[in-house]
Amino acid sequence: TIERTFSIIKPDATARNLTGAINTLIENAGLRIVAQKRVRWTKTQAREFYAEHKARPFFAELVETMTSGPIVVQVLEGEDAIASYRALMGATDPAEAKRGTLRKRFAESKGQNSVHGSDSAASAKREIALNFTTKEIVG
Ligand code: CMP
Repeated sequence: TIERTFSIIKPDATARNLTGAINTLIENAGLRIVAQKRVRWTKTQAREFYAEHKARPFFAELVETMTSGPIVVQVLEGEDAIASYRALMGATDPAEAKRGTLRKRFAESKGQNSVHGSDSAASAKREIALNFTTKEIVG
């Protein structure tokens, strides 16, 4: 099935000028970037986006990190896009990420892990709606 997923190129990656390198690997994996913009989130936006993690010990650090600089938010479309992008990203912790994955190549730590991708169809729908209007997505 053709699906859409939500992706973020995180501040650690934009700071190292990796947007193009990451986009090349996304496109090489067969995913189409059907919406994309570079933004900087407010703390309020980051807290809302990551609301499911608010009881976690790393929540404050997560909000700080995600608002520390520009991010590139994207909608990716393709066959099994949600699972396919998670496979391309690799494990949250770069020390556990497999060879060839984005996080193995680029991530610095669990917190500074270069990319985010939706973990389910429900998350994808919610995360896309929080970041894009329907008009901004051109498939
Ligand atoms: P992400 O896919 O954006 O969703 C939640 C984020 O929390 C995750 O990527 C990590 O960057 C971050 N995270 C998870 N575990 C930790 C941790 N132990 N310390 C700091 N950040 C974490």
